[in-house]
Amino acid sequence: MDVLKTFEEGMDLTAKTFSGMEDILAAELENLGAKDISTGNRAVLFRGDNTVLYKANYQCRTALRILKPIGVFTVRDENELYEKVQNIDWTSLFTVRQTFVISASVFNSKMTHSQYVAQKAKDAIVDQFRNKFGSRPNVEKVNPTYYIDIHISGPQCTISLDSSGMSLHKRGYRTEVDKAPLNEALAAGLIQLSGWDKTGDFMDPMCGSGTLPIEAALYAMNIPAGYYRKHFAFQNWSDFDAELWNQVKQEADAQIIEHDFPIYGSDQSYKAFRIAQANIRKAQLHKDITVINKPFEKMNPESGKGILIFNPPYGERLIENDIVALYKHIGDVLKTKFKGYEAWIITSNLDAAKFIGLKPSKKITLYNGPLESRFFKFELYAGSKKAAKQ
Ligand SMILES: C[S@@+](CC[C@H](N)C(=O)[O-])C[C@H]1O[C@@H](n2cnc3c(N)ncnc32)[C@H](O)[C@@H]1O
Repeated sequence: MDVLKTFEEGMDLTAKTFSGMEDILAAELENLGAKDISTGNRAVLFRGDNTVLYKANYQCRTALRILKPIGVFTVRDENELYEKVQNIDWTSLFTVRQTFVISASVFNSKMTHSQYVAQKAKDAIVDQFRNKFGSRPNVEKVNPTYYIDIHISGPQCTISLDSSGMSLHKRGYRTEVDKAPLNEALAAGLIQLSGWDKTGDFMDPMCGSGTLPIEAALYAMNIPAGYYRKHFAFQNWSDFDAELWNQVKQEADAQIIEHDFPIYGSDQSYKAFRIAQANIRKAQLHKDITVINKPFEKMNPESGKGILIFNPPYGERLIENDIVALYKHIGDVLKTKFKGYEAWIITSNLDAAKFIGLKPSKKITLYNGPLESRFFKFELYAGSKKAAKQ
């Protein structure tokens, strides 16, 4: 078995993300000093020391979790998994008084039950402790000391320590959510994919719980993605370096700047408006984001320059009376009221999207959870396209 070693210059690490966000995350990691970066499916592999590990957790906007692989091996069935998990010296990693939880994702034709895989791995770990010390550490689902991640793809099994714990999209600013909220890491990725240069108006005219305006403000002001979070799992690790962690946080927080352009979130639903307001206040961004309770068609953009990023109701998860009429309406409002703006729309309702009636200048395929989606770019030229390009 190949148990990965920790080298002086760094560790092998894996950052997990959404399908379609791998390149954005790779660029974020490169900015933070990660080395040997390569992208996989919903994952970015890289090398780094504890500084990079702490920075990745604190600052990556599009990462869901940062894993530290501790064992990679091939496996045929659950019994072999049990044996090979026992080959890792768990007793050198944690003590009987500490707790752990295992999460497994399995893509294998023979082992189809991820719960059973997690159970077998748990048995291997506790039996190793019991054989050595006569007692065993407990499994704790909420706030365990160690989060262990098992990923089986075909015959390949990777066992990792999850340094994040709770998924990194749980930033800590969302107190409540309305219908179909975007995942925060996905929202952050959409903003970066749009290539927004942080100038002009930023608008989400169907902002729901306010995720996109909040992520836009965090991005524009260099507020670290983990700024509001209270805890990361690596803080429980035996090698946790509190001084280094404080230094990483202080350096990142020192980069926070003011943003001079307006950021708007608006929604026709009063409930969504109130929830967005509460979340924005929790993020202490109420001076930086203006929230409006208005239908899209009643918005009056003033500056004539900026970007809209939004996810209208899809129809699958939100019951709308007439989804086609809604998408037609979106196209009409964009054409008449938002000349000079750039609009980006993410939707998984590809049939309805055709009714926007504008030709997208870009189409990016993404997954919003299990939903295959498109992220469309529409350029709303003020005059003719030719004139606008001159
Ligand atoms: C999919 S949700 C947006 C979720 C949001 N991005 C978030 O992260 O919470 C769509 C939102 O569009 C709003 N909406 C639908 N039609 C609208 C319209 N004509 N004008 C403004 N908001 C509208 C709904 O009230 C709903 O909050």
